Amino acid sequence: MKGVILAGGLGSRLFPLTKVTNKHLLPVYDKPMIYYPLETLVQAGIKDIMVITGGTSSGDFMRLLENGKDFGLEHLTYAYQEGEKGIAHALALAEHFAAGGKVVVMLGDNIIEKDIRSQIDTFSKQEKGARILLKEVDNPQRFGVAEIRNNKIIRIIEKPASPPSKLAVIGIYMYDNQVFDFIKTLKPSARGELEITDVNNRYIEKGEMSFGILDGWWTDAGTFESLLRANILVAKQRSMR
Ligand code: DAU
Repeated sequence: MKGVILAGGLGSRLFPLTKVTNKHLLPVYDKPMIYYPLETLVQAGIKDIMVITGGTSSGDFMRLLENGKDFGLEHLTYAYQEGEKGIAHALALAEHFAAGGKVVVMLGDNIIEKDIRSQIDTFSKQEKGARILLKEVDNPQRFGVAEIRNNKIIRIIEKPASPPSKLAVIGIYMYDNQVFDFIKTLKPSARGELEITDVNNRYIEKGEMSFGILDGWWTDAGTFESLLRANILVAKQRSMR
């Protein structure tokens, strides 16, 4: 299976840290942020990855990651997203790269503790559709939140004022190739973006969405609080080794 890392967007919530660079190049403890999703996918056995960047620092990703060989990749490809038009808009740029197959998508500002190989293996055996990963959090209002009934996801609500559960949808998504057709039918949300939550709800409506609960800690790193949290979690993990 191929992997896609989404590292576009303007990182406006981290301004002025992101005034002259891309959020995913900022440090998280001892490595640039983009290393974490890259290493997570490599650890899960993915050897062919596309990194989608944007903004004015996109050339720096190539200087940093080069051809991906040092990370154990066979192929590393880059794409450029114009503007900040949403996660689903960025993912659409990977259609040609996916070449009709399944993809594992990871948001460039998501950092997790453990290996997700078993989740990806489960998805490889899934005949069609999509698979997402959920994690219980204390502040679900900040995320896409899953509503579960009889052990099935019935919908996902993006940043709900009254969350139906504490189960956040984390930024690792596994899709079959239908995802690219679904994205083509999306309309921009109130915040002017093509939302990945709308894509996920399409799969749910078709009865083709499975889910797993993520093992180990998870954080994003897109706000000052979560960036600090990411640094602390990684530093603690290193000191335990
Ligand atoms: O972190 C998980 C959450 O990520 C999910 O629970 C939400 O459902 C999902 O919408 C997303 O929420 P955020 O509002 O936190 O996403 P954000 O705009 O911070 O974008 C996350 C990453 O996606 C970012 O690090 C880079 C990539 N991205 C985002 C946008 C808007 C792009 O590549 N291009 C874009 O245009």
